[in-house]
Amino acid sequence: MKGVILISGSGSNLQSIIDNAEEIDLDIQAVISNKEEAYGLKRAQDANIPNHTLNHTQFSTREAFDQQLSQIIDQYNPGIIILAGFMRILTAEFTQKYLGKMLNIHPSLLPKFTGLNTHQRALDAGESEHGVSIHFVTDELDGGPIIAQSHVQVLKNDTAKSLSKRVLIEEHKLFPKVIHCFTQGRLSLKDNRAILDSQCL
Ligand code: GRF
Repeated sequence: MKGVILISGSGSNLQSIIDNAEEIDLDIQAVISNKEEAYGLKRAQDANIPNHTLNHTQFSTREAFDQQLSQIIDQYNPGIIILAGFMRILTAEFTQKYLGKMLNIHPSLLPKFTGLNTHQRALDAGESEHGVSIHFVTDELDGGPIIAQSHVQVLKNDTAKSLSKRVLIEEHKLFPKVIHCFTQGRLSLKDNRAILDSQCL
């Protein structure tokens, strides 16, 4: 299945997807970053994947940015759009257009800790468990139907940094697996529910 991957930063999730692409039947057509300094762009170049930078600060409105983003995505006619550390809020128009085809990874056990600084917030809340969620993207920020989660124990001396490192290890394992379910046609979105092999998740 053809896929386009959106990033904003280091792209370690992108790397795990690149490394597993063949195994998970994903043909990565392009990587798009909203930040030109994103290290993930270098990872895309090293893997000979076409890559684009679309600097959101050069657009006067969110709508204008999303329209341009959509134009780039549509050139590749992807079956899946993967948000791998893409740190932009998307307009409802955009999320509706790609509803059921767009997945996001979020570093918390949703519905806990939507938004930013999830690791510190989990520590501040005294959570004993933290983790990662992958969900379909809807117009609700980090609020679309959850497909899969991995749990990580919070340790006594954890800092946001140490916790994020352990969560990231789980992210790198979980995302390719979920993408594979999608490329195999086993995973879909129906009536705002994630469905795997005809079972509601
Ligand atoms: C990951 O923790 C992801 O869940 C979050 O941002 C981080 C991106 O890391 N949305 P990377 O760019 O994949 O290394």
